[in-house]
Amino acid sequence: MIRLQNIEKVYRTDTIETLALNSVSLDVAKGEFLSIMGPSGCGKSTLLNIMGLLDAPSKGEIRIDDQKTGGMNDKQLAQFRNKKLGFIFQSYHLINDLQVLDNVELPLLYRDTTAKQRRELAAEALEKVGLANRLKHFPTQLSGGQRQRVAIARAIVGRPEIILADEPTGNLDSAMGNEIMEILLNLNRTDGTTIVMVTHDENMAHKTHRLVRLFDGAQVL
Ligand SMILES: Nc1ncnc2c1ncn2[C@@H]1O[C@H](COP(=O)(O)OP(=O)(O)OP(=O)(O)O)[C@@H](O)[C@H]1O
Ligand SMILES: [Mg+2]
Repeated sequence: MIRLQNIEKVYRTDTIETLALNSVSLDVAKGEFLSIMGPSGCGKSTLLNIMGLLDAPSKGEIRIDDQKTGGMNDKQLAQFRNKKLGFIFQSYHLINDLQVLDNVELPLLYRDTTAKQRRELAAEALEKVGLANRLKHFPTQLSGGQRQRVAIARAIVGRPEIILADEPTGNLDSAMGNEIMEILLNLNRTDGTTIVMVTHDENMAHKTHRLVRLFDGAQVL
């Protein structure tokens, strides 16, 4: 489903070059739930952003669903992302001026849908994450765990084949973290959604199919 070949990422500033990823090759199968662990700064978010086509590698090739992504322009990338991928960011990235329901509808705006369909799909996604009673709240009126669940609803509303999650349980207590993990496991089991999750939590990682460890930008066993 996702194929990374010899991915290298170099960040350059005026004075320093940082090799954030050093020749990473990784295949994620369709329907697989993969977790990525490693110390702070080892390149986990960089890898996830590159997998999600949010950032381009300095070298190497990314194929998603057997399509080469290297030659796509920004517009093609945006369309491809919108259709195939759902993102859950550690810091939620919700829009505070929009109500919960409107936040979750956002990915559907770029699709061929009517306003009514968008409402229904967003409400359905929010029900899945247990937030059916918070549709009209604003993000600032929610707890951290609830915001994380809104972010998950937004990631799943377009029924993406792939979900990329950067520490989705990182800011939560263990009960809420387990609840979020159950939602992801359920999506993987029932819809066959392919999931790649970055986590610092060994317990969470061991609930997934496979664990990849990164160290200093390279994959270790
Ligand atoms: N925009 C950037 N410009 C320069 N260097 C960067 C940039 N983004 C990340 N880096 C560097 O690349 C390396 C990998 O960063 P990355 O954010 O991928 O780490 P991480 O594994 O996600 O860490 P954490 O667990 O703390 O989130 C770090 O050394 C970081 O300083
Ligand atoms: Mg990170």
